Parts: sequence; structure tokens; C-alpha cells
Amino acid sequence: MSDGDGTSAAAGGERRFGPLGTALVIIPTYNEAENIKAIVERVREAVPDAHVLVADDNSPDGTGKLADELAAADDRVHVLHRKGKEGLGAAYLAGFHWGLERGYGVLVEMDADGSHQPEELPRLLTALKGADLVLGSRWVPGGRVVNWPRSREIISRGGSMYSRIALDLPLRDVTGGYRAFRRETLEGLGLDDVASQGYCFQVDLARRAIRAGYHVVEVPITFVERELGDSKMSRDILVEALWRVTTWGVGERVGKVLGRDRAAGPEDAVRPGTGPAVRRPVADVAVAGEAAATPAESPASGRPEAAAPESAGSTSADAAGPADGTGSGPADGTGSGPADGKPARASDGDAS
Ligand code: GDD
Ligand code: MN
Repeated sequence: MSDGDGTSAAAGGERRFGPLGTALVIIPTYNEAENIKAIVERVREAVPDAHVLVADDNSPDGTGKLADELAAADDRVHVLHRKGKEGLGAAYLAGFHWGLERGYGVLVEMDADGSHQPEELPRLLTALKGADLVLGSRWVPGGRVVNWPRSREIISRGGSMYSRIALDLPLRDVTGGYRAFRRETLEGLGLDDVASQGYCFQVDLARRAIRAGYHVVEVPITFVERELGDSKMSRDILVEALWRVTTWGVGERVGKVLGRDRAAGPEDAVRPGTGPAVRRPVADVAVAGEAAATPAESPASGRPEAAAPESAGSTSADAAGPADGTGSGPADGTGSGPADGKPARASDGDAS
């Protein structure tokens, strides 16, 4: 990390991306007792260097207690106990703060129900070596969904399309929840004023990342619908998403007309100038040493139609192994980070 923000501008304006540091996989849970053990084990096996943080909203089914048992048996598993169900967005924000405070270099979002396959995580981390944010994407070539009812696919595709058009985002899967952030990216998004509670949290973060000029890459994933437990998707979550996305879109357009940066209200403002100073050229984003895993490109400055990759969907890089981008220590040398051999314990959480 040559300049303190994980990136550096080389001569000619091209950005180099710094080393990744240790990854923290944040898994938000609400009533995932049937899934929590398997998912934690799969993450630990797929990326042995990564740590796991279960962010549980006091699940009535005892998920938090099961997570505590997993943490007691494994130094790299942690639990953040939250008071009650406050939505996916709030759980992730708390998890991000937990991880940033402890010096993790990469923060990963992953569902607990197996829809986001931990075995695909090495591919996301590899892509993150050349990006600020990697989105696991169902809707780029090579991405797909298994076992979703047609109705759910229509809602999801429609939600992504609406968000993409309303917010003018060069992304295919705007609502997906399998993502890997560099810590510097999260630090630049202005998380303090994120108000989104439900799944529109994902749209909110994608929007902020693009607006801040970060280099965002979509990598195809296979999303497998859960076999156990229930989805928490609800009418309220859909209404919140529709309402917020529309408000952001209208606000941005009004702001443009009025010549202002933003007009969506203070709590939704993306702080200008927090992103990287230099954008990485669109054509220059091959992932080093991973020709077969070239991610679906979604350059901040490009159009989605230009994003189709030739080699998207290749899963051959799965065998690349977990060492990619992990295990090289905390990004900021705070000394409390995971690489000092003493991972923070569950009880360090601010909501335990
Ligand atoms: N802590 C906490 N609090 N966790 C929650 C809450 C909450 O209020 N609501 C949901 N979760 C957790 C679930 O336990 C699960 O681990 C994860 O968030 C995703 O919830 P699901 O209910 O399984 O989501 P889904 O399969 O319907 O939706 C998926 O697709 C959405 C739209 O594409 C997810 O990947 C979403 O992130 C995504 O936005
Ligand atoms: Mn799910």
C-alpha cells in the first residue's frame, strides 16, 4: 500500500492495485439454523486464510448460538450478535465496521443459505486484484441461477434492469449480494449515511461505488436457490427498493439539470472526491495470470452492452486455490488485525 489508500497512480495516469490483505467473509443471518454450519465450513474450506463473521439479528431459531459454537471451535470464525431484526443493510454495515476496525483488507458479502457458493470465492478474490469492487453476477454471460421460480427471476432481472436504467449504471446484476470489496473502497463510499435497510442496500452500494469512480468488475456466478429455510424477501423490501431507486434516479437527474452534484437528500449523498483519483482504463482489466477467468467487465465509464466478455463463465479458475489475495496480513497495520495471529474474538463485537 504505497499511498495509504491501497492504490497508487503510476506515470501515465494508470492505477496499480495494492495487495489485498486478509479477507473477512460477512454472513448476515436471520433464522438460518439449518444452513449456518454448512456455509461456514464451506467458506473455511474454500478459502482457508479467510475469516468469517456471522452477523446475526438475534434469530429466534437459535442461529446465533450455533454460530457461537462454530466460533468457539475455530479462531477464524467470529460472531456479531445484534439486538433484533433490522434488515440486511444494517447487518452488513455493522459487519463492515467490525471488519474495518480490525484491519481486514477485503470484506466479502455472502448469503448464509448456500446461494452464493463459497467455492466461487477464489475467483472473486482473484478478480479483486485488479479492481476496487467485484460483483458476483448472475446476469452476465456465464452467470446463472439454479432452481429459481420464473417469478423470482423476473423480479430480480426486472429490479436490476430498472436500477440500471434509473440510475444509469453500467452493471448487469445491480441487486446481487455476493461481493468482494477492498477496504479502501468501503472507506470511500460514505457508509455513515447509508439508510437502505433491505436488499436495495446492494443497489445503494453499487451506485455509490460507480459514482465515486471506483473500478467495478462483474464476475459470473452460479446462484443456487436455497434448499433449506425461507427467503426473507418481502413486499416491504420490494417497496423500499422501488421507492429508493426511483428517488435516487429522480434526484440525480434533477441535480444534473440544476447543475448540482446531487439532489437526493443529505442522507443519500455520495461524498464527491472520495473515490480513487485515477480511473483505470477500460481496456486494461485482465486479471493477472487468470486468462481463463477474465471477469465480465463493467467499467464505470462503459455501457453494459460493451461488457460482454468472451470468456465469461469460465469456472476453470476455481482450482486457482484460496491463497489468491488472502493471507498477506491486515491492510493497515493496526496490530489488531487478523494477521497478528490473534484474531479478534466474538465478544469484541459492539453488539454482543
Ligand atoms: N442479519 C440479518 N438481518 N440477516 C438477514 C436479514 C436481516 O434482517 N434479512 C435477510 N438476511 C440474511 C439471510 O439470513 C441470508 O443469509 C441473506 O441475508 C439473504 O437473505 P435471503 O432471504 O436468502 O435472500 P434472497 O435469496 O431472497 O435474496 C438474494 O437475492 C437478492 C436479490 O438479488 C440475496 O442474495 C440478496 O442479497 C439479494 O439482494
Ligand atoms: Mn437466499
